[in-house]
Amino acid sequence: MRVLGIETSCDETGVAVYDTSTGLRAHALFSQVALHADYGGVVPELASRDHVRKLLPLIRGALAESGLAVTDLDGIAYTAGPGLAGALMVGAAAGQALAWALDLPSIGVHHMEGHLLAPLLEADPPVPPFVALLVSGGHTQLVAVEGIGRYRMLGESLDDAAGEAFDKTAKLMGLPYPGGPELARIAEGGRPGAYKFSRPMTSQPGLDFSFSGLKTQVLLAWQASDRSDTARADIARGFEDAVVDTLAIKCGRALDAAGTDQLVVAGGVGANRRLRARLQALADRRGGRVSFPRPEFCTDNGAMIAFAGALRLAAGQHGDTSVTVHPRWDMAGLSPV
Ligand code: KG4
Ligand code: ZN
Repeated sequence: MRVLGIETSCDETGVAVYDTSTGLRAHALFSQVALHADYGGVVPELASRDHVRKLLPLIRGALAESGLAVTDLDGIAYTAGPGLAGALMVGAAAGQALAWALDLPSIGVHHMEGHLLAPLLEADPPVPPFVALLVSGGHTQLVAVEGIGRYRMLGESLDDAAGEAFDKTAKLMGLPYPGGPELARIAEGGRPGAYKFSRPMTSQPGLDFSFSGLKTQVLLAWQASDRSDTARADIARGFEDAVVDTLAIKCGRALDAAGTDQLVVAGGVGANRRLRARLQALADRRGGRVSFPRPEFCTDNGAMIAFAGALRLAAGQHGDTSVTVHPRWDMAGLSPV
């Protein structure tokens, strides 16, 4: 089954073609980073309008790369939520129009399920049951994955998501948008231990997170510093170590709670090198395994949507023809595949 996947939930237009017999055939991405940079964050209306401009050329490009005509497709998958309502509407409307015109089944994919399944696009994919750490700009979640579509929430952030904490912390130290990857880059030159920030909510039991207090600790440290490049790098390193440590401690606890040594990591912060190394060490110590998507599939992309949609479409699941999006959508309510 050949499925076209469309991702437009935020500031990336992603398109891909996934074939259930041969794997990923093509993927294309346009990032709106430059469009939103002047505003220091994503402007929803600008995001929607740019998805309108970029989506059809990207679909044509991905189809050309896959060597398929639009009539060779067997299904359409698009991100139906969670995300920005207007941005989601662009992908949903395009996806449903294509499905209707080609008389194909379509399915609205949960963006976080897309992230969660992205590691399964790689060679030697992990097989449930496992624990998934989802760390993106909008979510920080620990999920017990009992099967595809069978998700039990173990813990989540009570305030800022991990990526959001990276972005806000970067911004308050004057780094350009989007700050997360930039802060991680600068932290490479920082001295470990020069600044020590707390590991929030690790001294009490439980699997929830809270990252908003860290931001305040960084702000105070930054204001008290000489605001040099050295101070910025040292603080960035201290912040990154605090987030990475906190995530790793909770991952260990989540594996204990779920009774498995298999961990899967996905979402934009999953591209963070120090986090990847720390969780690899955790898995090695437990004699278990950790799986990540390749870095380009950690952040938003069409491949994960084509893949998640293909799994459901191949199992006979599909939606109706209405253009409906869910800006807020609980993953635990999804149906099993
Ligand atoms: O999954 P994603 O592309 O979008 C959402 O669904 O939110 O994640 C984007 C988030 C941003 O907050 C970005 O700063 C963060 O992932 N991010 C990183 C890194 N690369 C992306 N955070 C830390 N280190 C990185 N290398
Ligand atoms: Zn995402």
